Amino acid sequence: MPLFINGKSLQECLLEAEEFLKEAGIENAAREAQLLFCLGLGLDKAKLFTLSTKPLSQKERAKLEKLVKSRASKMPFAYLAKTKNFYGRDFYVSRHVLIPRPETEELCELVLRTQPVSHLADLGCGSGCLGLTLYLENFCQTVLLCDISRKAIEIACKNAARLLGERTSSVTFLHHDFTKPFPYLFHNFFDVVVSNPPYVIEEEWEEVSPDVRFFEPKLALLVKNPKRFFHDMFCQVGAILKIGGRLFLETSPNLISLQKSLLEKLGFCDVEVHQDYAYKNRFLSCRKAFP
Ligand SMILES: C[S@@+](CC[C@H](N)C(=O)[O-])C[C@H]1O[C@@H](n2cnc3c(N)ncnc32)[C@H](O)[C@@H]1O
Repeated sequence: MPLFINGKSLQECLLEAEEFLKEAGIENAAREAQLLFCLGLGLDKAKLFTLSTKPLSQKERAKLEKLVKSRASKMPFAYLAKTKNFYGRDFYVSRHVLIPRPETEELCELVLRTQPVSHLADLGCGSGCLGLTLYLENFCQTVLLCDISRKAIEIACKNAARLLGERTSSVTFLHHDFTKPFPYLFHNFFDVVVSNPPYVIEEEWEEVSPDVRFFEPKLALLVKNPKRFFHDMFCQVGAILKIGGRLFLETSPNLISLQKSLLEKLGFCDVEVHQDYAYKNRFLSCRKAFP
């Protein structure tokens, strides 16, 4: 059914959009409708209200209808806007990468409380938000951004170019499976490895909210055999870290004890669990021990 009949004012269309989103089960429908109208019309919120009696053109109505219907189908706003703010900077995102999360900003804070280093690797970089932010916050001098998804690497590359300009030469992009051996030149090279790997297990998949489950990349979320996957990943982390180098990992409270025991069995030391702002066991840090 078409939305926004010819001749309606911006304010009338906005109310119609709000009602449509509410019926589709979108929370904060009024706010979401305003955000979609700002996005579709290229206006800020103040301007949106000053133009409330203006009739919308056919082109504007068609554009807004597409946006509102997509959001009603649970498409996350960040994919419609093609951008997500992370640690104060706007990152380009598409459906090929996970939308950066506030917990990952907390991981940045945890890392930034430690001493700056020379070389950092971000394993499973997605949009590049984690590794690029740590570089831009002057935590490290070089960054390796690694992902198994070629599309993710392309997006990380685009974000590096947008945010770093000429300093992009400090970033290396690697299309690689981090559970498999890295090229030899990276062995014993990194001072710090950061990672927000997939951490939803199969038993939890059906409980994941529809906006995440139907729109975000499954490859970024689901881990099929966590014991095997994290064993293989941590072996490779051990190979690329310098002795004494640190790993900072974001994870699920359900996986943390498995990961902690794997890290200890593999000989990492100072294995510590850190809570997020919701008091959930969310992060792990450890060091590569002396042999
Ligand atoms: C949870 S997302 C995190 C993305 C980004 N670091 C962030 O925090 O927004 C996990 C990322 O790991 C990548 N990934 C999954 N398995 C991988 C593997 N075996 N090797 C390399 N990257 C992998 C996915 O493609 C995805 O981009």
